[in-house]
Amino acid sequence: MAEHKLAQQYRDYWDKGADVYDEIVNTEFATDTYDQWNAILGHLLSEKRNLKILDVGTGPGFFAVLLSRMGHQVTAIDSSPEMVARAKQNAQKYNCNIKIIETDIIEYKTEETFDIVISRNVTWFLYNPVAAYQNWYGMLNDGGQVIIFDANWNLFLSNPQEAELFRKAKEEAIDQGYLPYREEKDIEEGDQLALTLPLTYVRRPGWDSEMLKFIGFTKIQVHEGFDAGFYSTGEKILNRHRPMFAIVAEK
Ligand SMILES: C[S@@+](CC[C@H](N)C(=O)[O-])C[C@H]1O[C@@H](n2cnc3c(N)ncnc32)[C@H](O)[C@@H]1O
Repeated sequence: MAEHKLAQQYRDYWDKGADVYDEIVNTEFATDTYDQWNAILGHLLSEKRNLKILDVGTGPGFFAVLLSRMGHQVTAIDSSPEMVARAKQNAQKYNCNIKIIETDIIEYKTEETFDIVISRNVTWFLYNPVAAYQNWYGMLNDGGQVIIFDANWNLFLSNPQEAELFRKAKEEAIDQGYLPYREEKDIEEGDQLALTLPLTYVRRPGWDSEMLKFIGFTKIQVHEGFDAGFYSTGEKILNRHRPMFAIVAEK
């Protein structure tokens, strides 16, 4: 398949963000956030061990390391070479045996099958989410699950009501000491790229639930209300109208 025409731009954007994201996940490793995610993932995986898990868009490898430390066999993929380098460093730092592959989610093909395909804060950035969800369906064992953590991060770019809510939340968050973790020019570049991506224009997780059902997934569940504990005061205000959700669906 020919590469998407913006693929290099997408990769460059995440390459530039790799240091910042690495710092964020290393803070997560060192604080209660780790225990909170450990509890959330343990619960969603019914405390099972030794599952074959694919972490898509692993970034610096937070989920990959956490899941490997929980006793699972983890493969982690990401299209950004700089993110892959950070994920490899973190796997080594935390002494985890993780298969880490540099590849685009849409292009990734394997003979392997998985019990779980998981992602955090990745699907909003998919340029072809339908192809990705179909691909994941094909890679799952029967009874396997897809687990998608995400939020309507960019709905404010396409929806004027959301834009107004987000503008006010951002102003209030900055008043309360919130500091954006990427520079303004990178935030603007991210917004421009988000405008090229289909999930900026739909309300989720409703869209995903319908699409997953259409593809053939069953037992689709949506979980919300678990993210407040991760955020600083400023982030809580900033993300007031963009709560995180988890979608779990079975093959
Ligand atoms: C916001 S970061 C999240 C990283 C990680 N999942 C976490 O929660 O810490 C999004 C990641 O998705 C990756 N990504 C975006 N689109 C991708 C694609 N089409 N194929 C593979 N990785 C992709 C980016 O390179 C980046 O590392």
